[in-house]
Amino acid sequence: MKRLRSYYSHLRHHHVMERKWIFPLAIGSMVSLFLLFLTTLTSPDGTSFLPFYRSLSSFSSRFVESKLRPLPISTLPPPPRLAYLISGSAGDGRMLKRTLQALYHPLNSYVVHLDRESSAEERLDLQTFVAGHEVFKRFGNVRMITKANLVTYRGPTMVANTLHAAAILLRDGGDWDWFINLSASDYPLVTPDDLLHTFSYLPRDLNFIDHTSNIGWKEFQRAKPIIIDPGLYMTKKADVFWVTQRRSVPTAFKLFTGSAWMALSRPFVDYTIWGWDNLPRTVLMYYANFISSPEGYFHTVICNAPEFRNTTVNSDLHFISWDNPPKQHPHHLNLADMRRMIESNAPFARKFRQDDPVLDKIDSELLSRGPGMFTPGGWCIGRRENETDPCSEIGNTTVLRPGPGAKRLGTMINSLLSNENFRPRQCK
Ligand SMILES: *[C@@H]1O[C@H](CO)[C@@H](O)[C@H](O)[C@H]1NC(C)=O
Ligand SMILES: *[C@@H]1O[C@H](CO)[C@@H](O)[C@H](O)[C@H]1NC(C)=O
Ligand SMILES: *[C@@H]1O[C@H](CO)[C@@H](O)[C@H](O)[C@H]1NC(C)=O
Ligand SMILES: *[C@@H]1O[C@H](CO)[C@@H](O)[C@H](O)[C@H]1NC(C)=O
Repeated sequence: MKRLRSYYSHLRHHHVMERKWIFPLAIGSMVSLFLLFLTTLTSPDGTSFLPFYRSLSSFSSRFVESKLRPLPISTLPPPPRLAYLISGSAGDGRMLKRTLQALYHPLNSYVVHLDRESSAEERLDLQTFVAGHEVFKRFGNVRMITKANLVTYRGPTMVANTLHAAAILLRDGGDWDWFINLSASDYPLVTPDDLLHTFSYLPRDLNFIDHTSNIGWKEFQRAKPIIIDPGLYMTKKADVFWVTQRRSVPTAFKLFTGSAWMALSRPFVDYTIWGWDNLPRTVLMYYANFISSPEGYFHTVICNAPEFRNTTVNSDLHFISWDNPPKQHPHHLNLADMRRMIESNAPFARKFRQDDPVLDKIDSELLSRGPGMFTPGGWCIGRRENETDPCSEIGNTTVLRPGPGAKRLGTMINSLLSNENFRPRQCK
């Protein structure tokens, strides 16, 4: 450990001046681990990082050091780019704007969507906000789906909406690395710089998706019933309805289920959208009649695709608090949950009520974000005086300023990628 740290501080003093480290030592061990990943990614024989990772524990730090020393100056990995979908329904417009500002970074791409249940005024208000914002205009990285989709909660139209946004981001969103699906009632617990910094050390092909094949009660209540989502073919919204016949559990592929929140790699999103393999398409058609398809579609595709199942990390990167016993919806987070939220080390939490005081506390304590402003990061070089947003003055957008959130997130990622958690929990 000592050696790693001294290696790290050597690195820091010579090459890493650009990032303004706030917790250098704590981040140090994490960096070392992530550098290991990187060296294996670029290994000459083209083998992936994965076989190497499995035997990580058997490497001594001496090995690590000798292996890492010859790396070129560019060892500080470039920040990745994240592509977000943030969606909401009637009444979510204001909260959606807040979540967008809290998550915003010029390197990322954003698609926002208010479904067709929200009023024309509410959608117009969001559209005006997106189109009129100086920073959004300058970077051109926030898009709104103005032709709103009809989205049925629990229905396949929800998956269709997610795929729609992913397709828009593939076409117009530039070179992003991960697609992250959020709703207006989600909120970050770390800054965009914390996320970009930590993810910059990760292989770009990892998929963060909470999943299991142990579908239990869901076999009877989800897999066997057949539903129809009128949102697919009607102009007005109506809830899904059930067909009297039931179907058997698939034998052509294995069902997986899990959380509807995920961070998907670009290669996997390419795979699902382009459909050069028929699996994503047939599974999509199967899920058209499946209740709560967002909790199964991507999980089933990824775990039945041999080229992707080894890239799964079994987590949705969220803090979600379920009642005990769990109800249909998670419980709304409030000030009393603050400590548990921080201790979870998760980068996102849900769900929040609009204007709940806990959001102000997250803004001030975790994000250093002023009301109506962006979460500040290395790209913001203005002074915070007289209520002006420091991000109204824009510096170098590739300069990151990770803070305590990067340390928390690093702890979470290290645990997810540990020998106990990573391989043994893939598509089981
Ligand atoms: C994507 O985000 C929405 C939030 O609006 C969520 O309800 C949905 O289930 C998510 N997941 C998928 C796979 O569509
Ligand atoms: C995935 O991992 C399994 C078990 O470790 C291995 O047998 C298989 O070859 C890997 N698949 C790919 C595509 O790397
Ligand atoms: C902030 O406001 C005060 C009083 O309104 C003014 O005296 C001061 O010059 C302002 N500072 C800046 C940097 O604009
Ligand atoms: C921005 O910072 C990066 C390093 O983070 C540096 O390589 C690049 O030259 C800088 N760009 C400008 C325009 O200063």
